[in-house]
Amino acid sequence: MVVDRLKTGIPGLDEIMNGGIPRGQTVLISGTSGTGKTILSSQYLYEGVKNFNEPSVYLSFEERPESIKKNMLNFGMDFGPLEKSGKFAFVKYDPYHVDDIATNLEGKIRDIGAKRVVIDSVSALSFYLREDDNFRRLLFAISNILQNLECTTFMISEVQPETLGLSRSGVAEFVADAAVVLYYRRVDSTFSRAIQVWKMRGSSHSERLHPYKITEKGVTVFPKEEAFIDVKQGSTKL
Ligand SMILES: Nc1ncnc2c1ncn2[C@@H]1O[C@H](COP(=O)(O)OP(=O)(O)OP(=O)(O)O)[C@@H](O)[C@H]1O
Ligand SMILES: [Mg+2]
Repeated sequence: MVVDRLKTGIPGLDEIMNGGIPRGQTVLISGTSGTGKTILSSQYLYEGVKNFNEPSVYLSFEERPESIKKNMLNFGMDFGPLEKSGKFAFVKYDPYHVDDIATNLEGKIRDIGAKRVVIDSVSALSFYLREDDNFRRLLFAISNILQNLECTTFMISEVQPETLGLSRSGVAEFVADAAVVLYYRRVDSTFSRAIQVWKMRGSSHSERLHPYKITEKGVTVFPKEEAFIDVKQGSTKL
C-alpha cells in the first residue's frame, strides 16, 4: 500500500521520516526546554502555507502569539501576511480556562480549512489540569477532532532533563502516531543537538540519531550524518 505522505518542508526532516509524515498522523515533538520545538513547529506551519498551500493553525498555551511571531522573524518567517491572507491562525488559550477549547479549535480549523496544526504544548495542559482524568479527556477530544478533520499535527511535549518517557504526563505518547525526540547534550566541552524519529505508525524511518542545527534559517537536520551523543545521560527513554 502506498502511504500518502505530507512533506514537512523542514530541511532534512522528511528524509529521516522516509519521505514525510503519513497524512493525518499526530507527531509528538519531545525535548527539553530550548531544544527548538517552537522553531521547528513554526517552520512546519510556515512551510505548509507558503509552499504546499496547506492552511495552518497554531494553538499556544504558553508563549503569546506576539512573542512567537516576533521571534520567528529572526528565522525569516513572517506570519503577519499569512494571517491576513486567512490561511494561518494563532489560537491562544489560557491553560486554566479550557472549557470551550475543543469546539473553538474545531471552528478555527474549519474556518480556514487547516490541514496542519501545532499544539504548544501538551505539557502545559497537563501541568495546569491537575486532574489526570480531565487532561486525558481533553487530549482525546482534541485528538478526535484532529482525526475527523484529517489534520496532520505536531504535538509539542516539553520534558524535564531527568524524565523517563516522552511526555510529562505519560499520556500524550498514546494519542500520538509518531514521535520525534530532540536532544541537547554535552559532548566534551560543548553541547550538541541531535534528533531521532522514535516511532512512526505504518512506516519505516531512520533508526539513527542525526545532528541538527538552529541557524538564521531555523532548524536544519542532517540526514546523512550520525550524531554521537549519550542519550542515556538525562534520558528521554521510554
Ligand atoms: N538566532 C538564533 N540562532 C541560532 N539559534 C537560536 C537563535 N535564536 C534562538 N536560538 C536557539 O533556539 C532555542 C529556542 O528555541 P525554541 O524556542 O524553539 O525552543 P523550545 O524547545 O520551544 O523551548 P521551550 O520548551 O522553552 O518553549 C534557544 O535556546 C537557542 O538555543
Ligand atoms: Mg517553545
